[in-house]
Amino acid sequence: MTAIPPNPADLRRECAAAIAGYRYFDEREWLREAFLTVPREHFVPRRVWWPRRGDDGRYPVLDRDEQPGRWLKAVYRPLAALITQIADGAVRIEDGPSASADFTSSISCPAVVVNMLRHLDPQDGDRVLEVGTGTGYSTALLCERTRADHVVTVEIHPALTERAEEQLAALGYRPRVVCADGEQGWEPGAPYDRLLSTVGVQAIPPAWLRQVKPGGLVITPFATPARCDVLAWLRPDGQGGADGGLIDTVYFMKARSQRARKPWTELGWPRWPDWSDWSLTVTPEGRQRLRTRDG
Ligand SMILES: C[S@@+](CC[C@H](N)C(=O)[O-])C[C@H]1O[C@@H](n2cnc3c(N)ncnc32)[C@H](O)[C@@H]1O
Repeated sequence: MTAIPPNPADLRRECAAAIAGYRYFDEREWLREAFLTVPREHFVPRRVWWPRRGDDGRYPVLDRDEQPGRWLKAVYRPLAALITQIADGAVRIEDGPSASADFTSSISCPAVVVNMLRHLDPQDGDRVLEVGTGTGYSTALLCERTRADHVVTVEIHPALTERAEEQLAALGYRPRVVCADGEQGWEPGAPYDRLLSTVGVQAIPPAWLRQVKPGGLVITPFATPARCDVLAWLRPDGQGGADGGLIDTVYFMKARSQRARKPWTELGWPRWPDWSDWSLTVTPEGRQRLRTRDG
């Protein structure tokens, strides 16, 4: 008996229901509609690496032509990113599973993309700069919200830029797709109301704060000393500075020039965490509780 292949629209709806369970569409009906409208599978290359090592210690390849059902289910796993490039393209997917974990491009997890867009909260008609086009998927979601001619997306890798532009155009999305270093923003399109970075940074690029309007919003993954990134928000002040805060734990590949780790103290972090501020109690039943001494 041949298995019936899953239907992308059904998988998209199931994925949306899971994301709704995390409350990531909260009060953003446009975002739910955009998610249900954009066919994520259109942006995913035929072959991608699955981001967890197999029994042989290598990252397996998912091939749409060989295992269409498995590939499509992976596309709509709410918490799975799919790897589209390793070592800036030096590892070829035609060569099969990869031992290298030097991931340099991916399509981010559906749930994370939705959560970032929820916090970005672009308004209809806003001018938006996206840094890290990747496959073009998150760009398409942005185009669903604001006018495509108000969206600029910047990707540093030429072949990825070209492919993303083609995939977007095939669905009728015509944002400005630029191949450049997104740490410089994109001055000709400034000022922007919103800036979404889908690459992580340790240091906020000054151009971002200059090119976003005062009171506008920057959302970016921000590297922390805790072995994870945190989604950060910043409101530029019009003078090149900004105030903001940290939102949620995420894991992102880093902007190309920011891959080498800088000393945390140089990046403004306090000596963190100060473990002596914490107390630890364990109940006879084995329940652990950590508290700050004053809370
Ligand atoms: C996590 S992927 C982006 C995922 C993408 N938003 C999507 O929906 O497919 C990060 C992308 O940022 C790109 N990138 C890294 N450094 C960059 C930079 N300085 N400027 C622009 N793009 C950069 C990488 O080449 C990669 O394609």
